[in-house]
Amino acid sequence: MKILLVIGGGIAAYKAAELVRLIRREGGSVTCVLTEGGAHFVTPLTLAALSENPVHTTLWDLKNEVEMGHIRLSREADLVVVCPATADLMARMAAGMANDLATTLLLATDKPVMAVPAMNVRMWQHAATVANVATLRARGVTVMDPDEGAMACGEFGPGRLPEPDAIMAAITQHLVPRLRPLTGRHVLITAGPTHEPIDPVRYIANRSSGRQGFALAAAAAEAGATVTLVAGPVSLPTPPGVQRIDVQTAREMAAAVTAALPCDVAIMVAAVADWRAADAATQKRKKDGSGHIAPLDLIENPDILAGLSHGTARPRLLIGFAAETEQVIDHARAKLARKGADWIIANDVSGDVMGGADNTVHIIRADGVESLPRMAKAEVARAIIAKVADAFC
Ligand code: CTP
Repeated sequence: MKILLVIGGGIAAYKAAELVRLIRREGGSVTCVLTEGGAHFVTPLTLAALSENPVHTTLWDLKNEVEMGHIRLSREADLVVVCPATADLMARMAAGMANDLATTLLLATDKPVMAVPAMNVRMWQHAATVANVATLRARGVTVMDPDEGAMACGEFGPGRLPEPDAIMAAITQHLVPRLRPLTGRHVLITAGPTHEPIDPVRYIANRSSGRQGFALAAAAAEAGATVTLVAGPVSLPTPPGVQRIDVQTAREMAAAVTAALPCDVAIMVAAVADWRAADAATQKRKKDGSGHIAPLDLIENPDILAGLSHGTARPRLLIGFAAETEQVIDHARAKLARKGADWIIANDVSGDVMGGADNTVHIIRADGVESLPRMAKAEVARAIIAKVADAFC
């Protein structure tokens, strides 16, 4: 959870420092933006020390413009929290003004925004503020209701900044479900190659590294899903929050998939060996001196994806991968129909994709093809998981 925290100029600004601490305790990261007014109540040094991130104060900081850029700053967060949101700051937000760094970021962001108001009771109840809050809420900004009680100015009524614990709870309650859209869903993923023994020292395999499947498991877990990852033999760390089941052969993979059902989404990324030795030798196969290799009988492995598609516990969304070296889209379309999947993610593996860091994929559905640009496998994974989440909304 990455939070961009915009701190307005009010006496309650000191509570923003406590909020930074709470967000970090929940595992989130915080980047603070301090308005000119905010800097009168809390120092950049305090916020930098608590957030362990640079604090941004001005639109005209050329160094930051070059290194970060205010547009990027506004988009890198998962959500933007304005705390305290003063009457002035909310008025400028409602008017679409961009006359300082905070309002520029708020106008430029494409991320959810939550405002936590704090002001004098009469300012809160003024028709102008009431209208501004209504405008912001109508545009999708989550505006918390302020607390009621004695105010720093000596008056009494609604306008106090809610306690940091309550703000943290509101962040979790209102915004985390938007960030974790697969909460409550079970996503089953296969990844990596399978090893099909020929004898105790040899096996049939392929070049799959498992990286794309592991990245998908990580992205699904980040999106809040319960993730079961059935992994062939790979040397990759288990992504946080993922339940991993290690297997060697296609038949073990098929059994592990069946045991993990039911699931809402299955993404079959594994490069399953199509064939296995009909009779794996119990002792090492030896050369017989004739100069000819002894024949190796192969039989076909079960098709795990097709089995899921035609089985009784078919997931609501069934996704296959197609690693192709030519006619990528045509072959993937044929696989979509043959295997009964809802989507096939096709990639061209004729270059350095297998084992590499990047991937270029095409999403093939019955109603069309969507091509994604070449990206790091982690980015491909996030893009696919975002589309999976959309499919469930
Ligand atoms: N797959 C599977 N079980 C198999 C073979 C493949 O579940 N025994 C799945 C893969 O995980 C992938 C999809 O089917 O999601 C396509 O895999 P691929 O190896 O590209 O297709 P094949 O069926 O092997 O077809 P071909 O060898 O003709 O390319």
